[in-house]
Amino acid sequence: MTVLASALDTSSAEYAAHRETMLGKLADLDTEHAKALAGGGEKYVARHRKRGKLLARERIELLLDPDTPFLELSPLAAWGSDYTVGASLVTGIGVVEGVECLITANDPTVRGGASNPWSLKKALRANDIAYANRLPSISLVESGGADLPSQKEIFIPGGAIFRDITRLSAAGIPTVAVVFGNSTAGGAYIPGMSDHVIMVKERAKVFLGGPPLVKMATGEESDDESLGGAEMHARVSGLADYFAVDERDALRQARRVVARLNHRKAYADPAPAEPPKYDPEELLGIVPGDLKHPFDPREVIARIVDGSDFDEFKPLYGTSLTTGWASLHGYPVGILANARGVLFSEESQKAAQFIQLANQRDIPLLFLHNTTGYMVGKEYEQGGIIKHGAMMINAVSNSRVPHLSVLMGASYGAGHYGMCGRAYDPRFLFAWPSAKSAVMGPQQLAGVLSIVARQSAAAKGQPYDDDADAALRAMVEQQIESESLPMFLSGRLYDDGVIDPRDTRTVLGLCLSAIHTAPYEGARGGFGVFRM
Ligand code: COA
Repeated sequence: MTVLASALDTSSAEYAAHRETMLGKLADLDTEHAKALAGGGEKYVARHRKRGKLLARERIELLLDPDTPFLELSPLAAWGSDYTVGASLVTGIGVVEGVECLITANDPTVRGGASNPWSLKKALRANDIAYANRLPSISLVESGGADLPSQKEIFIPGGAIFRDITRLSAAGIPTVAVVFGNSTAGGAYIPGMSDHVIMVKERAKVFLGGPPLVKMATGEESDDESLGGAEMHARVSGLADYFAVDERDALRQARRVVARLNHRKAYADPAPAEPPKYDPEELLGIVPGDLKHPFDPREVIARIVDGSDFDEFKPLYGTSLTTGWASLHGYPVGILANARGVLFSEESQKAAQFIQLANQRDIPLLFLHNTTGYMVGKEYEQGGIIKHGAMMINAVSNSRVPHLSVLMGASYGAGHYGMCGRAYDPRFLFAWPSAKSAVMGPQQLAGVLSIVARQSAAAKGQPYDDDADAALRAMVEQQIESESLPMFLSGRLYDDGVIDPRDTRTVLGLCLSAIHTAPYEGARGGFGVFRM
């Protein structure tokens, strides 16, 4: 074993300061997570309960195997928008009858569970995860359909929801719909497209058009129950496979459906692994409040991998990127971690080689981000930094082993791409509260804008107002800063959630377990042309 040594001094003032900053950010994060948990707020929660209904998360809890974890995804969706934090939908991965499943549950306390543009993004992301990892998908349905005032944003792209359900089915990935309430108009296609359908007595309402619409269209008098009740669908139309007498019975029946799926993981679970030698609690004191100060990612690796055992690859070459092999909860991983921010040509070439090796050996990759991007300047341009950065991006793009990304600190510019940012389809991407991501740092961006404006005024022969420039710079800086923060980015679904650094090993372990439901094979060739 090659156990990493640690130089972290937990009695230093520096450590205490980093920890305090991180705890402050975690407290802010808790406040925002609480908003998602509160759903539509007290009034609507009380009304929902009075109707004898379970809340979305209670439904999930009863569906899952007792005392098993639920990895909730994107709880901050819609943060910073006009919609309720959480986007009226709960999504995540949990274990049902021993089978890891992708679960989605509408939150009917938020605008009747209607889907807004962020709910749609969140639902589509959940479908992607189910598809990539071959996880059975269970939808706990109770929704007012499209959020009507924002229908223009969702009606046309929203069709993908129903397409995805049947594509999952076509790929042999089971889909289960449990209908607790409204599932009308387009929403009727959720049970309509699913492999297995359960409906709750006197609660499910599944029809293309409700009584008023039918009256308008054909003049026919009707009622909810005869148009789309559970009893009708179970006895007459045949859309419901199972009739549940109440919500708990529906969840019990959903568990029985999953128990009979015969859904098998591609890989056996690894044997229990040795925990890291260092206390994960210490992950709070590693990242500096000011990301301009570097930190050693080996301190992080030592606190997340099995036995803190890490075999570094090319430790003496391209030293601002640490690469090496480890295992995490028994799964082998290749790790790429930024050490001092900037990526140079050597780091880029080292990364490309390392990614190819992982593909040859079928080893998943973990990217730990803290980069300000690729190095700029005459020397580096002349040294071919574009070619070399492109090699790394080529390797990441065409790699076929599963990727995981964690934004620990900075993730700026093309460095975000080379380190497998969101657009490069990592199977999962999480951010720490300390992360920041943007095209470049706020000061740099404001400075660039100012230089461009000054040059433009000079070219037109106009005077340049320095006071206005300073005000503009301050404003831009503040705007970019706020748009770089993890809550803002999580709100836009650019990650799968903001996590407590102490949970990193657990979260990645759950992801690796889910990933190993589907078979994968690394790319033996098939990379783009590497510019040498
Ligand atoms: N778009 C936007 N807002 C909606 C909505 C929708 N599709 N469905 C419900 N809401 C809002 C309501 O206006 C209400 O807002 P308010 O409390 O500020 O007045 C809130 O969500 C709760 O709705 P309410 O009707 O009181 O809840 P309910 O639990 O009694 O009934 C529904 C829920 C979904 C059955 C009912 O609201 C409904 O039928 N909505 C319209 C469904 C529809 O036709 N959707 C289009 C299908 S594509």
